[in-house]
Amino acid sequence: MCGIIGFVGNESACSFLLSGLEKLEYRGYDSAGVAIHDGKKINILKAKGKLAELGKKIEAKNLIGNVGIGHMRWATHGKVSEENSHPQSSLNNKIALVHNGIIENYLELKNEFDKNIFVSDTDTEVIAHLIYKYYDWTGILDNFIDAVYFVLKKLKGSYALAIMCEDFKDKIFAVKKDSPLVIGIGENKNFVASDISAFIKYTNEVCYLNDNELAVLDEKNINIFDENKNVLEKKVFSVDKEVNNLGKGNYDSFMLKEIFEQPKVIKNFLIDNSENFLDEINLDEKILDEVERIYLIGCGTAYYACLMGEKILSKLNLFVSAQPASEFRYSDLVLNKKSLVIVVSQSGETADSLAALRIAKKNGAKILSIVNVRESSIARESDFVININAGPEISVASTKAFSLMLSAFYILSCCLYKYFKIISHNEFLDLKNDLKEIPELVEKVLKQHEKIKSVAEKYLLSKNIFYLGRNLDYVIALEGALKLKEIAYLNAQAYPSGELKHGPIALIDESSLIVGIVTQKNIFDKTLGNLEECKARDGKIFVITQYENENSKDAADDIFILPECNQIFIPLLANICLQLFAYYIAKNLGRDIDKPKNLAKSVTVE
Ligand code: M6R
Repeated sequence: MCGIIGFVGNESACSFLLSGLEKLEYRGYDSAGVAIHDGKKINILKAKGKLAELGKKIEAKNLIGNVGIGHMRWATHGKVSEENSHPQSSLNNKIALVHNGIIENYLELKNEFDKNIFVSDTDTEVIAHLIYKYYDWTGILDNFIDAVYFVLKKLKGSYALAIMCEDFKDKIFAVKKDSPLVIGIGENKNFVASDISAFIKYTNEVCYLNDNELAVLDEKNINIFDENKNVLEKKVFSVDKEVNNLGKGNYDSFMLKEIFEQPKVIKNFLIDNSENFLDEINLDEKILDEVERIYLIGCGTAYYACLMGEKILSKLNLFVSAQPASEFRYSDLVLNKKSLVIVVSQSGETADSLAALRIAKKNGAKILSIVNVRESSIARESDFVININAGPEISVASTKAFSLMLSAFYILSCCLYKYFKIISHNEFLDLKNDLKEIPELVEKVLKQHEKIKSVAEKYLLSKNIFYLGRNLDYVIALEGALKLKEIAYLNAQAYPSGELKHGPIALIDESSLIVGIVTQKNIFDKTLGNLEECKARDGKIFVITQYENENSKDAADDIFILPECNQIFIPLLANICLQLFAYYIAKNLGRDIDKPKNLAKSVTVE
């Protein structure tokens, strides 16, 4: 999704802005642009398509100046075009700004102006015209800040903004609401960005802006104000430079690298969280004894992790419900101080998940988040946090984060089963021992990647791809189908296997591929029966199971045998197989695996 970088220092801004934008590329974008103050005026350059196009333009124009802002746009309002890309500006580029988020009342705000002044279809441009209109052009900093706050009060929606004004040749301004912005503090240079990776090469000292805080940055100083223009003291964090500045190593994509990192990151997570897990996350008796309802909320892959959480936590004698965050925020659910809301998010910045968290909090619910980015908004606004510690996940398609989200639910459920006396202490110890085996078992699946590759190569031309499974396997079917859609652009649908003959079976013919996930012993024969029904209609069957017997071999055109594993945990292994399956199909189809079309890594708009 859109990315922001701002630079102010004693060196030429262009190279910092371009290198920042390069680091933000993984978020997904369709155009990019920069604005640079040359000491007299603000110059803007923009280009459609890949960043290299903008690079060429910058080189040709030889933009000079030490203060600038840059942006990569993922179109929301208005098609992909130079006019609609950012920076957006007021008349004569007197005000230039870049924006992440959505201004919901932009059409209404445009009524303050003659329609002819607008050159774009964006929801952003009006902000530049408004600041231009309400700033008195006296060159007095205080007056400019007043004008910005005055305009912000008119905006409805979400924004992270980096702003430049012709009157302040040595400054950039940054302000946010419901969309992240982080400040990078360097030596004789300071940065603002939507994401640390944009400037981590130059500094690892950061501070986070909260909603409605406004930062004024120049080469030497960073001043941060609240809405009443009080100067704020902000905490400065040192983030891990190594972790935030990774390359692909010997892998051809971040996705493949991240798939193969899984044994290590799962092992680290399990080691770090093996003992007194509930104590470590401060989920104490007082809270647990009060809880009547548990909601699990997330988006996309994180939502599927919630569905798995719902299925395994349902053993507790409590109301447990997983909801997509985008639905949760608009539904009339019973939500009060006896509710525990578990918010799951890799980035910790997903707009719907954050909004859902805030609604839950407002209603008195306790918030436990499962996140990968420790300093993210979701983590900061939660009462309790499980940090999955997967390291940066760069590939748009989430892989290792999902496995760790499942691992987090596994540990949490084992502890809650024990706490609520669903299992004995010995059963708890057995489960913990089984959990410890997961990294090694994941390794075993990964070692068979050539086998998965050859199955994938057989099915590149399949139409109507179905992923089927029951209960826990159905969750993996959903995640497997999502992965294939995302990176291979193939239309894959997931169904609970028993649902197929209630309609979708009409689509099955010789061009169909049916991926059956069959890991649960008690329903093994039932799911195989459903796969046989597809086979009888000429569909090709790929079975993923831990049971290799006459029945499974008979049903399958291709079969992948998973290593023996506890019933509750084995779906995680099946998913590793599906990650590789999607990867090899996408690779063979020549897709841009790490940056699939139309997608963004971090969805910071509703
Ligand atoms: O950062 P989050 O976990 O909150 O992101 C949620 C979804 O946007 C994300 O899982 C998305 O579905 C991925 N592209 C899946 O691969």
